[in-house]
Amino acid sequence: MTDRFLMCAPDHFEVAYVINPWMEGNVACGNNDVAARQWNALARLVGNIAQVERVTAAPGVPDMVFTANAGLILENKFVLSRFRHEQRQAEEPHFAKWFAEHDFDVLTLPDDMPFEGAGDALLDRREPLLWLGYGHRSDQACAPLLADWLDIDVEPLRLVNQRFYHLDTCFCPLEGGYLMYYPAAFDAASQARIAAHVPAEYRITVADADAFDFACNAVNCGRNIFLNRASDALVGELSSRGFVVQQTPLTEFMKAGGSAKCLTLKLTEARIPAVQAVA
Ligand code: ARG
Repeated sequence: MTDRFLMCAPDHFEVAYVINPWMEGNVACGNNDVAARQWNALARLVGNIAQVERVTAAPGVPDMVFTANAGLILENKFVLSRFRHEQRQAEEPHFAKWFAEHDFDVLTLPDDMPFEGAGDALLDRREPLLWLGYGHRSDQACAPLLADWLDIDVEPLRLVNQRFYHLDTCFCPLEGGYLMYYPAAFDAASQARIAAHVPAEYRITVADADAFDFACNAVNCGRNIFLNRASDALVGELSSRGFVVQQTPLTEFMKAGGSAKCLTLKLTEARIPAVQAVA
């Protein structure tokens, strides 16, 4: 089956407000042409190995380009995001409409329960498990609802560094059951929970410089990994596990605090069978 990813062209993208530290000093400092070029390059790469679907960019919601935050998908279920900041809340009806029109079962959390979709909720690739980042954007209180609606165990992880405000900025489950992540973005208890689930030989930790280049904010599809930038050491680590890493600059989007993974949302998320967990 061909995988499908949702993207939103940067037609209305700009840094228009500050809701994370990356945006500080970058308001109205963007270059639209460069942003369009960078986005197109990523869309082409993803399009080479998967199908790219598009949601139309709406005016007035410049961060809508970050479709990872639309919601969380598992099979045909789509849990719509409830954005913490009012600047992004107006994206919700656009995403709700697109998913309803594309035959997803749209599930809606209470509006006082912040949840930022696949920015903070990531499926493990080794066992049937949902990792939920909390502490900045999503509320830990949504964990029981997600577990119930999606019939999956949820493991909450506390994010402790403002620069890594979404789980997908510092944590990237990879096919084959691997996990690329930046341990310093998590509190000690969360680091221990990660280690308890993911055997050492499946953990790929990234160093500070790679983390700040958004290496963990990677798109993974099969053996392919697309990311903004990675050191030779990290590329070597990933290659030795059979991954093919393609670097594609996304500096215009990093001014808003996002990179490759944030600009995409995988629409084809199958349930991993429990048997793989004990393999
Ligand atoms: N400016 C956006 C925000 O702060 C960036 C979102 C990046 N998305 C992501 N999935 N990490 O919400």
